[in-house]
Amino acid sequence: MKRVVINGSKGRMGQTLLACAQQIPGLQVAAAVDLGDDLRSVLEGADVVIDFTFHAVTAEVAALCAERGKALVIGTTGHSEGEKQEIRRHGSTIPMVWASNYSTGVNTLFWLTQKAAEILGPGFDLEVVEMHHRLKKDAPSGTATTLLEILGKVRQVQLDEVLRHGRKGITGERTNSEIGIHALRGGDVVGDHTVIFAANGERVELTHKASSRETFANGALRAAQWVTGRSPGIYDMQDVLGLR
Ligand SMILES: NC(=O)c1ccc[n+]([C@@H]2O[C@H](COP(=O)([O-])OP(=O)(O)OC[C@H]3O[C@@H](n4cnc5c(N)ncnc54)[C@H](O)[C@@H]3O)[C@@H](O)[C@H]2O)c1
Repeated sequence: MKRVVINGSKGRMGQTLLACAQQIPGLQVAAAVDLGDDLRSVLEGADVVIDFTFHAVTAEVAALCAERGKALVIGTTGHSEGEKQEIRRHGSTIPMVWASNYSTGVNTLFWLTQKAAEILGPGFDLEVVEMHHRLKKDAPSGTATTLLEILGKVRQVQLDEVLRHGRKGITGERTNSEIGIHALRGGDVVGDHTVIFAANGERVELTHKASSRETFANGALRAAQWVTGRSPGIYDMQDVLGLR
C-alpha cells in the first residue's frame, strides 16, 4: 500500500485528487494538508507527497521531503527560475516527478508537437494559444511553457530571444524566428492548448481540451505510485507513461 499526502487539499486540484484517490487500489491517503496545516508532522506516516499549491510553496515542500526521504510529485506550476533551481537541488536526494501537465492526452500532445515541428521544419510559423478559467494565477500556463520549450528545442533557439507574448500596436511584420504565445482567461475552462503551425497555403493545428480535472488527478496519482521507491532523480510524465 502506497501512502500519499495531498498538499493543497482544499484547492480545485486537491479536492479532485482526494476524490480520485478513493478509486485507486493500492493507494491510501495518509493526510490531506492545506494552508496553515503542519506538513512536517504528517510526513512520518507517508511514502509520497503530491503538491498542487502555489509556486512559492514547492521549494519548501521539496526540502522537507528530502530531509525525511519521501518521494514527491509536483503539479504546481508558475515557479520562478530561482524557485526551480531550489527544487532541482533535491533531485539528487529523493525521487520526484515534476510535470507541467499530468494528463495522458497532453503528454501525447507534447510528443506530437515535437514530431510536427521536426517534420514541418522552419518554413512554418509557430504560435501557441492557451485558455484557462478566470481564477488561474499564472500565465502562460505551465503546459504552454512546456510546449514552447519543445518548439524551442526543435528550432534550436533561445526561447527568451524569440517569444512574443501577445501583440499590440504597430508590431511590424512577423519575423520567421518568433514564436507567439497567447494566454486567454475566462469562465471555468479547465485547460485548452493549441499549437499552430502556419505556412503559405496551409495550416496545421494540434489541440487538446481538458473538460475535467480528473485527468490531471489520475495522472498525478499514477505518478505517485510509480515514483515511490525509485532512485533519486527528477522524472516527468513521459517517464511515468513509458514514452521515452
Ligand atoms: N500539472 C498539472 O497537471 C496541473 C493541473 C492543474 C493545475 N495545476 C497547477 O496546480 C496548482 C494548483 O491549482 P488549483 O487550481 O488546485 O489551485 P487552487 O488555488 O484551487 O488550490 C491551491 C491550494 O493550495 C493551498 N495552499 C496555498 N499555500 C499553501 C501552503 N503553504 N501549504 C499548503 N497548501 C497551500 C491553497 O489554500 C489552496 O487550497 C496551480 O499551480 C496550477 O497551475 C497543475
